[in-house]
Formats: sequence, structure tokens, C-alpha cells
Amino acid sequence: RDKIDLGVIGGDGIGPEVVAEARKILRAALPEGVELTETEYPFGAKHYQETDEILDDESLERLAQHDALLLGAVGGDPADPRLAGGIIERGLLLKIRFAFDHYINLRPVRLWPNTTSPLANPGEIDFVVVREGTEGLYTGNGGSVRTGTVHEIANELSVNTAFGVERTVRYAFDLAQRRERKKLTLVHKKNVLVNAGVMWNRIVNEVASEYPEVSVDYLHIDAATIFFVTDPSRFDVIVTDNLFGDIITDLAGAVTGGIGLAASGNINPDGTFPSMFEPVHGSAPDIAGTGKANPTAAILSIALLLRHFGFEEAAQRVEAACEADVVEAGGAPRSTSEIGDAILARLA
Ligand code: NAD
Ligand code: IPM
Ligand code: MN
Repeated sequence: RDKIDLGVIGGDGIGPEVVAEARKILRAALPEGVELTETEYPFGAKHYQETDEILDDESLERLAQHDALLLGAVGGDPADPRLAGGIIERGLLLKIRFAFDHYINLRPVRLWPNTTSPLANPGEIDFVVVREGTEGLYTGNGGSVRTGTVHEIANELSVNTAFGVERTVRYAFDLAQRRERKKLTLVHKKNVLVNAGVMWNRIVNEVASEYPEVSVDYLHIDAATIFFVTDPSRFDVIVTDNLFGDIITDLAGAVTGGIGLAASGNINPDGTFPSMFEPVHGSAPDIAGTGKANPTAAILSIALLLRHFGFEEAAQRVEAACEADVVEAGGAPRSTSEIGDAILARLA
């Protein structure tokens, strides 16, 4: 590949702030001879408030033409009634994930040596959460009966297809097979969510027979959160559904030095649609405009983008620059652009 045609959605709050730093790093890290074109899109809560547009089919079609997408975060003022019900999150972010079949939401978790974790004894933390990205409780299935009485009902239906689960599980096994420890943990709640949980568990066990070198473990989601805090080094590859994966990756970010370091890729492994790279965190309205946002998560998402396109060496250089920056900064307060520039300087 000698060119990357990137679509960029800065989004809301700190989204554009961290994306600006990530783009600097991408330009600097791309191997020589690889041409980068970047197209900015204004989508997000602010754009919706100004134009009434969230993401129409024509825009989606334009996004589909790119090789990859970079997203900051979306989500506006929680007090604005026009934004209630996650209209932007669902109408933009989830719409893209579903339309572009981002069935793998890849979320690496690492605690760099000599960096600060809120855990007293974190041990070595280096695992990857493979979160299913197009099913579960995120599909918008369900309904409500607003009776205006105490008998009101609100149902959310978790959609789990064998097709969707199996392709995710296979991806996770492939990944585990390529890693040193070759260990896969299914996280679910099969003692209660028997329909989905039992199917997930069965599919994991079926696929496991094709990966004899990979050891398989199972944890209920509640117990998994215990081990995230007491023994996170036990994890290598975690495979889980959409909502459990959402929750545990914020927790994982927190135990590895902060959500400002947590990267993710919404991957369409088939290559039919552009994959989308974004930090795990949101638009952080509480610190937007203050320069306090850490751009490292967005920058590490650039490493995932580079790796996705096979630029492994460039990806490792970005990760090494981030690691060196985090290790040496020692938690001193710095602005968004100071961090971005420091990482950029290390790349050079
Ligand atoms: P959040 O991740 O935006 O913020 C949670 C906390 O983490 C806040 O205190 C925030 O200041 C802090 N934080 C987040 N990113 C940080 C960074 N890079 N550096 C330093 N601190 C950081 O989660 P939230 O408050 O639940 O959500 C805010 C909005 O973002 C909501 O509208 C939500 O729906 C949306 N959201 C969007 C995405 C996305 O676009 N991918 C992801 C999560 C949340
Ligand atoms: C994330 C976010 C999204 C999710 C929201 C904003 C829809 O929390 O990317 O982790 O739940 O997937
Ligand atoms: Mn989340």
C-alpha cells in the first residue's frame, strides 16, 4: 500500500483536540513513500445543533470511500434535551460501526513498566479485549410501553447470532494463537443470561478444538471485574460481548494509568469497509476546552491504524514513543499539545 485516504471526524468536546495531535503523529510516523490524504467531516452534536444533520446515507456513502476513519469522540451537552437518548452516539458512532460491519472492537490494555496504576500491586498488565461490535444490547431492539402509569415497561433485547459470535470468537483465537501466552478468556454472564451466554460458551468451546495451543478460561463478568483489580496479569486475550466489553475497557483504562491512554480500533477484518480508529474515551465535556485532555489514547489509536495497514514497524515506533513519554513524564501535568509535541519529538 502506498497511500492512505483517511476520513477524519473530530467530533465534540475533547475529540477535535486529541485528533489534532493524533494527526501530527500519523503524518510523522507514516513510512516514506506512503501518501496520506485527509478529509475532515464536521459531524457531531454541534453540527447537529447547527444543521439538523446527524449522518445521512449520502454522507455514510462518502465515508465508505475512505481507506480508514479517525474519530475523536462524539456527544454534546448532557443538559440539551435535543441530544437526549444518545441521539448522536447512536445516529453517528453506532451507525458507522453497524453500517461498516465493525464487528471487532479491538481494545489493547497495557501497563507500561514504571508507570502509575491506582492498583497497589498491578503486576504485569498486557492483554487485549476483543469486544464484539455489532450485536448484543447495542442493536436498538426492544421497545417500551409508556402508559403514564406505574405499569410502564421498557425492554432492551440483546441480539446474539451464531454467525456474529463465531466470527468474533475466531478473531480472538487467531489473536491469542499469535501471542506469547496463548490464553483466551471468555467473559460473560452465562449463569443468568443463559440464552446468549450458553451460546457464546459453546461456540468458544467448538472453535477451541481448532486451536489446541490456546488455553481457554471462562469468567462471569462480575468476577472478571474483581480480577481486573486484584490480578489483571492473568489476562491475555479477553473475548466478550458489546456491552460487557464497553464496561470492562473503561475499567481497564483506569487501572492502567487512565482512560487518556486507552486506544481502540473498530475493525472490519474482511476489508469490505473502512475500519475506524478512536480513543476509548468520550468527549469529556468536563474538561473540553481546558487543554487537559490527554491525546495519548488517540495517538495510540494511530498505532492501531498503522498496524491495520501492515505498517508494523511504524506502529511500534508510535507505541514506543508513547511509552517513553508516559514513563518519563512521571505524571507531571501537561497540556494536550505539550504531550502531542513531546511524543512527536520522540518519533523524530
Ligand atoms: P468520558 O470518557 O468522556 O469521560 C469520563 C471521564 O474521563 C471524565 O472525567 C473525563 O474528563 C475523563 N477523560 C476522558 N478522556 C480523557 C482524556 N483523554 N484525558 C483526560 N481525561 C479524560 O465519558 P462520559 O463522561 O461518560 O461521556 C461524555 C460524552 O461522550 C457522552 O456524551 C458520551 O455518550 C460520549 N462518549 C462518546 C464516545 C465516543 O465517541 N467514542 C465514547 C464514550 C463516551
Ligand atoms: C465507547 C462508547 C460508546 C459505546 C458509546 C458512546 C455509544 O462508550 O466507544 O466505548 O458504548 O460503545
Ligand atoms: Mn465506552
